[in-house]
Amino acid sequence: MEKEFKVTPWEVKGKIDYEKLIKGFGISHIGAIPKKFQDNFLFRRKIVYGHRNLDLILNVIKNKEKFVMLTGLMPSGKFHFGHALVVKQMLFYQELGAKLYITVADIEAYNTRNPDLEELRKTAIEEYLTNYIALGLDPKNTDFYFQSARSKDGKKSNAYYSLAEKASRYISFNEARAIYGENISPAKLSSALLQFSDIVHAQLKEFEGPINVVVPVGSDQDAHLRLCSDIIQRMKDYKFRQITSTYNLFLPGLKGGKMSSSDLTSYVSLTDTIEEAANKIRKYAFSGGQATVEEHRKKGGNPDIDISYQWLRMFFEEDDKKLKKIYEDYKSGKLLTSELKQILIDKLTKFLKDHQAKREKARKLVDKFIFKE
Ligand code: TRP
Repeated sequence: MEKEFKVTPWEVKGKIDYEKLIKGFGISHIGAIPKKFQDNFLFRRKIVYGHRNLDLILNVIKNKEKFVMLTGLMPSGKFHFGHALVVKQMLFYQELGAKLYITVADIEAYNTRNPDLEELRKTAIEEYLTNYIALGLDPKNTDFYFQSARSKDGKKSNAYYSLAEKASRYISFNEARAIYGENISPAKLSSALLQFSDIVHAQLKEFEGPINVVVPVGSDQDAHLRLCSDIIQRMKDYKFRQITSTYNLFLPGLKGGKMSSSDLTSYVSLTDTIEEAANKIRKYAFSGGQATVEEHRKKGGNPDIDISYQWLRMFFEEDDKKLKKIYEDYKSGKLLTSELKQILIDKLTKFLKDHQAKREKARKLVDKFIFKE
């Protein structure tokens, strides 16, 4: 694997050094957090490792004020557990009472990936939305929209698109290059400005009015949040509040590198059958174990590089005590790689069985989410 890593909205590669990334981007570590956050294993284990302006949203929660959680997705390929990690965060904010704004970035996908809007729409609904609903998204408090069709209310739609257009006045090409690199193109810049509107438009009077917004994302999206912060400061007439963002680690791909919807052997999707999922774990999940059983018993394994262990830590085993036992037993050699994989497979099997039943019900609810507002 290359030593150099790269994390931009359009490219993620190499082995990510998160400390370097935090310093380079100017993200803050998650520090002391209230009990509600501590109770969530993603925050407690620093899977959500960094933030900008977290204090703003913590205050709002403390004062029981309203707030919005917004995030977005590019509808490409299968919906896998890397995507589901963000959904776990959506559900956390939903439980805290946030109104959820979820955008399908079909314009961004059209501009930067695949100019087939029909296909994008189908993927967004069948893969993403259906899985969101099955995972527990509540239509009552969710505004799910496509970038290409913000709202059936003309006033709202106008406000959303106008905001993206107006924002262009507040940045120069030099700044765009400084944030996004030399290869910034009209298509990418235009998508970035629409994403600015995604992130900020809840604060417009046509939507919620003055309100705080929290945006949970992967680190690759941070450039967009840096851009937002600059524009917010400059659009003085709007008096927008600064945005809170939080950053989660990427769930590693099965083979250790990046999890990618374009590489079938790097992920398990939420629509894989139980056999497919189990086989993928057995066949591809990178192991931190030793070459032979004897050697493993003697030297022990390395859970820190073992993908089955990492998936348990980051997604499937929320109980700290159980996780700790798995860690120690694997490290000491008491637990073999095949046994560790089986622990994950059992968890995965239970999850998928339950989820796939919920998915069938979710299909019927799709209409409740689309063009509601
Ligand atoms: N750019 C995001 C991606 O590549 C999708 C996106 C669009 C988004 N608008 C957003 C993410 C607003 C967070 C907030 O996946």
